[in-house]
Amino acid sequence: MRFLRSSLAFLALLPRAFAAFGVTTSGSNLIVDSGAGLLTTINTANGDITSLTFNGKQLQDSSKFTQLSSGLGSASVTSSVANNVAKITITTSTITHYYIVQSGVNTLYIGTFASAEPTVGELRFIARLSKANVPNGVTINGEQVSEVNGGTAIEGTDVFLVNGQTRSKFYSSVPFIRDQVHGVTGSGVGVYIIVPSVSYESSSGGPFFRDINNQGTAQQELYWYMNSNHEQTETYRTGFFGPYAMAVTTGAAPSANLNTTFMDSLGLQGYVAASGRGTVTGTYSGTLAGTAVTIGFKNSAAQYWIAGSGGTFSRTLMKPGTYTVTLYQGELEAGTASVSVTAGRTSTVNIASSLSVPNAIWRIGTVDGTPAGFLNADKIETIHPSDTRMSNWGPITFTVGSSAATSFPMAQFKAVNNPTTIKWTATSAQIGARTLRIRTTEAFAGGRPQIIVNSFTSAAPAAPPAVDSRGVTRGTWRGLNQVYDFAIPAGTLTASSNTIQINTISGSAGDAFLSPNFVYDSVELF
Ligand SMILES: *[C@@H]1O[C@H](CO)[C@@H](O)[C@H](O)[C@H]1NC(C)=O
Repeated sequence: MRFLRSSLAFLALLPRAFAAFGVTTSGSNLIVDSGAGLLTTINTANGDITSLTFNGKQLQDSSKFTQLSSGLGSASVTSSVANNVAKITITTSTITHYYIVQSGVNTLYIGTFASAEPTVGELRFIARLSKANVPNGVTINGEQVSEVNGGTAIEGTDVFLVNGQTRSKFYSSVPFIRDQVHGVTGSGVGVYIIVPSVSYESSSGGPFFRDINNQGTAQQELYWYMNSNHEQTETYRTGFFGPYAMAVTTGAAPSANLNTTFMDSLGLQGYVAASGRGTVTGTYSGTLAGTAVTIGFKNSAAQYWIAGSGGTFSRTLMKPGTYTVTLYQGELEAGTASVSVTAGRTSTVNIASSLSVPNAIWRIGTVDGTPAGFLNADKIETIHPSDTRMSNWGPITFTVGSSAATSFPMAQFKAVNNPTTIKWTATSAQIGARTLRIRTTEAFAGGRPQIIVNSFTSAAPAAPPAVDSRGVTRGTWRGLNQVYDFAIPAGTLTASSNTIQINTISGSAGDAFLSPNFVYDSVELF
């Protein structure tokens, strides 16, 4: 008896030798065995992943499950196995969601077809993992910026103070153009979401949109947000989202090169194989030297992007259709064109910047659709503006010729650092009728600039388009870029010292950092 028991214990230590790839049914569960250590249990009543074990270690939280949105309620769940590939299909009236496992690979390949936007107004995949076994959340610059467990909410129910530092799930976000792999880890294990660049095609917001990747609560939450109103700048798309993946490793991040060719023959709803796609190549010109260039493509069905380099670009794997092409100087739309894509073919488009580039007397910041280089711009993406690690917001007085751009505020909040004052000593050749151009990247609660130059007060510009919902306090400057040109009449400027005051105005009110505000891109006088 003792011998038998110890033999069984010995056998239990050897699961790899006996693990068989495939799908088995147990009550209301489907259990998918990768044959290489990963066992995924799916509830057949609603499609929730209720267990995820890797070499015997439970990675799934036991009370809150892994699912689409906040769970589908009820769904039809079926499985099939062929050619060493297991396919689980989860369907509701508007969603067809797939989990696909290849024999010997510890990765869930995922695709989500949505014929309509979910009524909750966002589309996301959320893995709620075991905090005990995967305790380490997404780190940005070495900080667990989205670990909020035990914190005190200071804004909405999503920005927290933890040990004196601000944390939020929003701070785990990374612009889509740079977000191909993100994950969480524990001892001997890592769980990573992989989203190839092309797989953002049905999402919205373009290359610089960013969304939640992680939140540490009692669970370790790992996300892929396909779309949301977290500073929504574009209409949502429907169709096939992905393919994307959740890969389980012994800790290291997986490659971003997710080979999804094997999915071409799986009959996934809305999926378009590489053979049904085309390429666009072309040239671009006229952008500011030293500023990164991105070429974007969009229509109502799809969006793509590719970095430009040396005046040329090539974007592969696009679905057929006619696209608006956007030339981005940094994150600023600098020009547009149109191109039609045909499956199996290469189309060509040449695009030039049509930005007005004044011969400025002076310029503060870079015309690139971002506040980069300004005060607190280096911190805003991962901490709240109220965080004690922020530099003092002011109000700031900036002197042309002697102040550094790093002292000019990246954002101006009506109730915090209003106004910003610019001091400028002009020569007699520089006065007369002039234009002050203020570019902004984002606005909240109708915030926009109005100027007072010496004794001249400008008209109040109309409110910028409203963007749903909170902006810069959630760590993003990516809204709708605006340009405000203020004509300064002759006789206003003097050939000695001048004072230019920029005020945040709005018909709305709000407290502190939720008061009307806007984010600066650049200020030019010409
Ligand atoms: C991708 O996988 C397919 C098989 O599904 C294989 O033929 C192809 O060589 C792979 N591509 C790369 C780049 O590894």
